[in-house]
Amino acid sequence: MAGITLRQVTKKYGTLSVLNGIDLDIADGEFLTLVGPSGCGKSTTLRIIAGLEAQSTGDVKIDDRLVNDVRPSQRDLAMVFQSYALYPHLTVQQNLMTPLRMRDLNFWERLPLLGFLVPGRRAKMAQIEEDARKVAEALKIVPLLGRKPGQLSGGQRQRVALGRAMVRNPAAFLMDEPLSNLDASLRVHMRAELSELHRDLGATFVYVTHDQAEALTMSDRMAVMMDGDLLQLGPPDEVYEDPQDIRVAEFIGSPKMNILPGESDANGTITCLGLTLDEGLATPQPGKVSVGLRPEHLHVQPRETAECFSGRLTYKENLGSDLFLHLEMAGVENKAVIRAKPHEVDFAAVGETVWFKAESGRMRVFGTDGKRVALTAPDTKRKVG
Ligand SMILES: Nc1ncnc2c1ncn2[C@@H]1O[C@H](COP(=O)(O)OP(=O)(O)OP(=O)(O)O)[C@@H](O)[C@H]1O
Ligand SMILES: [Mg+2]
Repeated sequence: MAGITLRQVTKKYGTLSVLNGIDLDIADGEFLTLVGPSGCGKSTTLRIIAGLEAQSTGDVKIDDRLVNDVRPSQRDLAMVFQSYALYPHLTVQQNLMTPLRMRDLNFWERLPLLGFLVPGRRAKMAQIEEDARKVAEALKIVPLLGRKPGQLSGGQRQRVALGRAMVRNPAAFLMDEPLSNLDASLRVHMRAELSELHRDLGATFVYVTHDQAEALTMSDRMAVMMDGDLLQLGPPDEVYEDPQDIRVAEFIGSPKMNILPGESDANGTITCLGLTLDEGLATPQPGKVSVGLRPEHLHVQPRETAECFSGRLTYKENLGSDLFLHLEMAGVENKAVIRAKPHEVDFAAVGETVWFKAESGRMRVFGTDGKRVALTAPDTKRKVG
């Protein structure tokens, strides 16, 4: 097993800069996700780790061994792709055995007929079959060993692809959106299976996804990338609770964090849509700010209350367990969203005004450069929002 280190890794395609200097330390045995919107450079980063793509500048280390000039096959990593890339004409068992045959048999031993005559081949093949079987047992695909990929469901194919990566017992697994071809419910199921597999193997997993929910649910730590930069690296709850950049705040979490326009005066007091907020800037500076509030931290009031936000209800999105209220607010570009329990907001009718407050201590404020700014402790005398 192995840790992986990237130091100031950049990638340019011609004049287009795709990675602007990525620093990343992936611990031995960690489940790390690279998450970010399409085109931000996730796959490129993974392919550079795998050695399938060369970085323009910077270093890649696997277990403190510099691998910049090491071929992919010599890096001892296994890659699992979105398209499973199974051999369609081979059975599941043969698919699982192929990487081992390539590694453990020499040229003569691999020959179709002549190979059988090479002494020692039988023992090697028995070991390979045994190793493939063990992996098939771990992934619960033993009954499928005789089938060809065309006779498998998407989830089963995905498991075989994982198995094929596992047989070599690699130092780390690199996975590029391995679940994105599966339907929604199977994807959720496979998330749990992958997490379990990670625990059982104790191996390093580097997992690429553009799905923030996958990143939140599976990883030990997530690296949020945007436009070729790594914006934030941390455990999922930390990234969710304490986004350091407004782009991270808006990307992680569904529905999105609400962003309201605000303004700070020279004392650091923040006003937002006509209300004075109960937290101010820790380092006072006059100017515009963005006030971020998650949907679950906004609470609908049964009637108009002083010092309250308001908006016109345009849509009630009922998911059974939760209900999302979509509101049009004067002076706010996007609709605001409030998360509530269905029975709590029976009284709210589409087309009418809804009054709501923000939970104290929950707002996250960002400067005009998009970076998070520190706040003072909530002033309870000025209980607002
Ligand atoms: N061979 C290439 N030549 C030129 N540009 C490339 C090449 N490969 C990737 N790119 C560009 O590099 C950027 C990053 O691509 P990358 O595949 O890493 O994105 P990604 O984050 O994996 O996105 P997605 O979620 O869509 O898979 C994109 O703008 C892409 O167009
Ligand atoms: Mg990609």
